Amino acid sequence: MTDVQKAIEFVRANRERYLTELKEFVAIPSISTSDENKPDMAKAAEWVAAQLRSLGMDKVEIMPTGGHPAVYGEWMGAGKDATIVMIYGHYDVQPVDPLELWQTPPFDAVVRGDNVYARGTSDMKGQVLASLKAVEAVIRTTGSPVNLKWLIEGEEEIGSEHLGDFILKHIDMLKADICLNPDAGMIAADLPTITYGLRGLCYMELRVYGPSKDLHSGLFGGTVHNPAQALVELVAGMHDKKGKVTLPGFYDKVRKLTKKEHEAFSLLPTDEQFYLDQTSVPALWGEPNFLPSERVGARPTLEVNGLLSGFTGQGSKTVLPAYAMAKISCRLVPDQTPEETFEQMKAYLEANAPKDIRWELLSLHNAGAAITDLNSAGVKAMARAFEIVWGKQPLFRREGGSIGVVVQLQEYVGVESVLTGFGLPEDNVHSPNEKLHLPTWYKGIESLVHFIYNMSK
Ligand code: BES
Ligand code: MN
Repeated sequence: MTDVQKAIEFVRANRERYLTELKEFVAIPSISTSDENKPDMAKAAEWVAAQLRSLGMDKVEIMPTGGHPAVYGEWMGAGKDATIVMIYGHYDVQPVDPLELWQTPPFDAVVRGDNVYARGTSDMKGQVLASLKAVEAVIRTTGSPVNLKWLIEGEEEIGSEHLGDFILKHIDMLKADICLNPDAGMIAADLPTITYGLRGLCYMELRVYGPSKDLHSGLFGGTVHNPAQALVELVAGMHDKKGKVTLPGFYDKVRKLTKKEHEAFSLLPTDEQFYLDQTSVPALWGEPNFLPSERVGARPTLEVNGLLSGFTGQGSKTVLPAYAMAKISCRLVPDQTPEETFEQMKAYLEANAPKDIRWELLSLHNAGAAITDLNSAGVKAMARAFEIVWGKQPLFRREGGSIGVVVQLQEYVGVESVLTGFGLPEDNVHSPNEKLHLPTWYKGIESLVHFIYNMSK
């Protein structure tokens, strides 16, 4: 038997244990945005560290950042000339609201059919565990032919705010030939995918203040500009009739799509029908002259993530609210930056906000847009792994989500990423009933085993 066959046999013999461990990992409610779950963040970091220790890493440390800790692991036993593969992941998850829409409790993993349901199964504890188990299979059977570094952070879902400084502080520690980042998912269970572009993010909160207190709408309606109305007027003005964002200068630095890129996008199976099926909307919306996959992968957008104002309880209350708030975020593409986008939003508000209200704009978090190198040894090793396990070449795409670390590693350490993963579009990530497709996950673990051997010189 070859080395890789031995490791693959190990994977096949241990599938059930992998599922048990996944259930254990997702049972920790590590929601990074909520103070209440801070102890769970520590628990999840400890859980990851224990896994790394059991793999025999030389160095395992839960390292402080300005926010939630990062888990670092290292094994340099393959020798100083061997390839260094870094593996990135995040142990934090998104909030679970609205709770009543979950069929089973979000932190109590349940298998239904081919899927396991719980928060974090797909995004991305399942992907972290797939990486841990692939490495475990290699280490337990033949020993690793490559050196390994692990960077498992706790703030991805809140913009990796403190990870940039952490990386800057530990540049030497984090030097690697490639970073495997399995947080980018795949297009369909039969279509292994390598993602080579991610959008950036500029997340803002817009607060509008009117009267000093809520007013009787009969006594004051008609004399005071309602902050809820002023807010939605401002929000409505952020797009024109064609769906283009109106912030001044918003498109100035957007890289134009080349003919070749357009052709590549048009060959992807993510066509109009795909987006209709995934979303159940009656019709799609967005910039004309761009394919839906281009609007997601290569064009910037502005989204209202939430609106708050006035009375929303049962029944009615005739009130003119004192305050209104919107959470607004822009997905960005090269060469836009979150800092410039924030300034453009401010300029829009300065030019358009009426004088009869007060407003305030907060920057909540940022992530840079990324394009990764399609010719890296890591991409080639992953593509060959997919060919073996899925029997076909992977698709290459640019995707619309954001992962802060990708640009941070490129800019601060000079490390390129291989973006892939075994999450599917229908996994309900960030939504109720998040799930992971188990057959795809098991194949994913096998493809990571191949990737590791393919990375050895
Ligand atoms: N895994 C996602 C990002 C993603 C999804 C990349 C699909 C490629 C394909 C990641 O965990 C995520 O959700 N990131 C957040 C980051 C944000 C809070 C800065 C996002 O994109 O909203
Ligand atoms: Mn996510």
